[in-house]
Amino acid sequence: MKLDLPRFTERFGSISLHGVQRVFELDSGSDKGKKVSENITGVGNEQISEIESKMAIVIPIKNERLKLLEGVLSGIPHDCMTIIVSNSPRQPVDRYKLEKESLQQFNRFANKNALIIHQRDEGLAETLREVNYNELIGSDQLIRNGKAEGMVLGMLLAKMAQKEYVGFIDGDNYVPGAVNEYVKIFASGIAMSDTPYKMIRVSWIYKPKISESGIYFSKWGRVSEITNYYLNSLISYYTGFETEVMRTGNSGEHCMSIKLAELLNFSSGFSVETYEIVNLLEQFGGILPTENQEAMDKGVEVMQVETRNPHFHEDKGEAHLKEMINGSLGCIYHSRICHPKLQEKILEELKNKSTLDNNGAPPVLEKINPFKEVDIKTFDKKLHDKATSLIHWNY
Ligand code: GDD
Repeated sequence: MKLDLPRFTERFGSISLHGVQRVFELDSGSDKGKKVSENITGVGNEQISEIESKMAIVIPIKNERLKLLEGVLSGIPHDCMTIIVSNSPRQPVDRYKLEKESLQQFNRFANKNALIIHQRDEGLAETLREVNYNELIGSDQLIRNGKAEGMVLGMLLAKMAQKEYVGFIDGDNYVPGAVNEYVKIFASGIAMSDTPYKMIRVSWIYKPKISESGIYFSKWGRVSEITNYYLNSLISYYTGFETEVMRTGNSGEHCMSIKLAELLNFSSGFSVETYEIVNLLEQFGGILPTENQEAMDKGVEVMQVETRNPHFHEDKGEAHLKEMINGSLGCIYHSRICHPKLQEKILEELKNKSTLDNNGAPPVLEKINPFKEVDIKTFDKKLHDKATSLIHWNY
């Protein structure tokens, strides 16, 4: 892959937030053919494949069309492990069983390292309790519903499989070629970064809207524009300089090194992607005391790369957008580093958008503490003994 080197970087404590980089060539040939100029770098196919073999791609899924899932599976490069964490209904139709059968059939031909599990599996919750990680467990003693909860499980499973990197791709993507590009972007970003603590986020070139008059290639989703504005304001309140650096505040498609993932606090549901950035600023921004001096010393890098493929995915409607705006702005509002003046602006925004039910502050969302201390060998053994929904193909 041939892509821009970062041209602009916002430094915030020990975090480097790089401006959006563009892709020039999806496939730039083998390592031998790689050409590097002052502005553009090439990451060769051999290097990309090597990184992919150290990466797991997590697909969080809840009741999506099977045809879309099958397309997503076919777009993930062979050397990556695939992890499906499903929260699909089991009744009246067992949608999870259908997903399992799709993966089973796909893997009969693909023979790849893959795993599928249901988020609400009793044995999974029991395993987590036995390794003293109660962060995801709800009042019914099972893992709570929620995309973030599914993602954290996926990260634990990637660590269990001894992967160095974990990436996320939603299960409702219409274009397998776009899925493939996301993973190549993840691998190229990883290759370009110098620190063990890294995150690569995808910025979609277009999020097309389809209407009766045709396709309109819009640049921004309705939620992303607002989230990015407030994330940038959070940064500007400290630096004193306005910035537009953050462009991927809601990017579901992103990846991290496990070394970084296991240090983070996560916010539940659909605020997860926004809060990852807020939590980086909280933990490594130099404002609050840190518990992770090694990451402070080595630095944390966030890259944002713009795709060539447009992002076609399922449109989930207004109520879902409202949930996303409340979650994304709510996690900025409730952060310990959010300036009172910015809190006022967020409240104003939410009032204008009429997304809050009671004109009060946005709801405080459940936080998930880091999984670094989980004894992963015990987790592995107990999970394979207890989780009845688990299937793991280890090629
Ligand atoms: N495991 C699991 N558990 N997966 C879930 C759950 C859950 O409780 N809820 C939703 N998912 C899955 C969906 O099936 C889909 O694959 C993915 O999470 C994203 O959920 P969507 O409901 O499709 O969200 P979206 O497409 O509107 O929003 C996506 O893009 C946003 C940026 O535009 C999400 O990735 C957001 O988190 C992101 O901010």
